[in-house]
Amino acid sequence: MTEQGPVLELDGISASYGSVQALDDVSLVAHAGEVIGLVGDNGAGKSTLIKIISGVQSPDSGRVVVDGEERHWRSPHDAMQAGIETLYQDSSLAPHLSIGSNIFLGREIRRGGLLGRLGFLDQRSMERKALEELENVGVTVPLSRRTVSQLSGGQRQAVAIGRAVLWSQHVIVLDEPTNHLGARQSQEVLHVIRRARERGLCVIFVSHTLPHVIEVTDRIVVLRLGRVVRDAPTSQYTVESLLATITGLVAAPGS
Ligand SMILES: Nc1ncnc2c1ncn2[C@@H]1O[C@H](COP(=O)(O)OP(=O)(O)OP(=O)(O)O)[C@@H](O)[C@H]1O
Ligand SMILES: [Mg+2]
Repeated sequence: MTEQGPVLELDGISASYGSVQALDDVSLVAHAGEVIGLVGDNGAGKSTLIKIISGVQSPDSGRVVVDGEERHWRSPHDAMQAGIETLYQDSSLAPHLSIGSNIFLGREIRRGGLLGRLGFLDQRSMERKALEELENVGVTVPLSRRTVSQLSGGQRQAVAIGRAVLWSQHVIVLDEPTNHLGARQSQEVLHVIRRARERGLCVIFVSHTLPHVIEVTDRIVVLRLGRVVRDAPTSQYTVESLLATITGLVAAPGS
């Protein structure tokens, strides 16, 4: 990995669905240890941009550069292998599996020897290691053997983000991770995002909850009708000015 260069560069990305231009010449540069807010009204193009970053969709034009190298994803798996983990709005945890199994889903630790070669998994190691690793990224869950279905919405979301933080090499993309969460649960999620930043990961945080975006990000990129209308350090925004930039309407005096 290059030390100084951006971990992710999007350069002149355009994408359309038939006659709908969802993204129009969008560029973005993201560095390690940076939390970037991606905001915009419904239909602004956020999810389309996420899908392009995570290999769900290809752009019509423009370049995706990861760690200095131009990439053409053929599938989300390609993007994951390049160190990009994405958490979609409906978290992809399997509710009836234990937390450990969820953390290692698709990346299971096999038992040693013949059992391992026959496909038996080392459940104990997975559970122990999962809890240790989650704690390292700031996620504490009550009991090791609990299945995901027994966790609260906030705990589930924290586990899902924890999993992304654990496996990500470069970039974590989070689509509305605090949606439907209460104040305390949201804070837990924001805490995990900060831990991801401390680990040197780049986090792209998509949200309509503007106070959370202001609270946790270093920089905010505003999309309107598929174009970047502002890309500035978070310190240059207030919730009111951010809202005005998103809608394109200047807040009325005294409102
Ligand atoms: N599969 C699709 N087929 C046709 N048009 C689409 C499709 N997906 C998105 N669009 C259109 O592309 C534009 C951008 O949509 P996108 O989902 O990227 O917006 P968004 O910023 O994620 O919005 P939201 O905040 O509502 O999730 C919109 O005009 C939308 O209607
Ligand atoms: Mg969306």
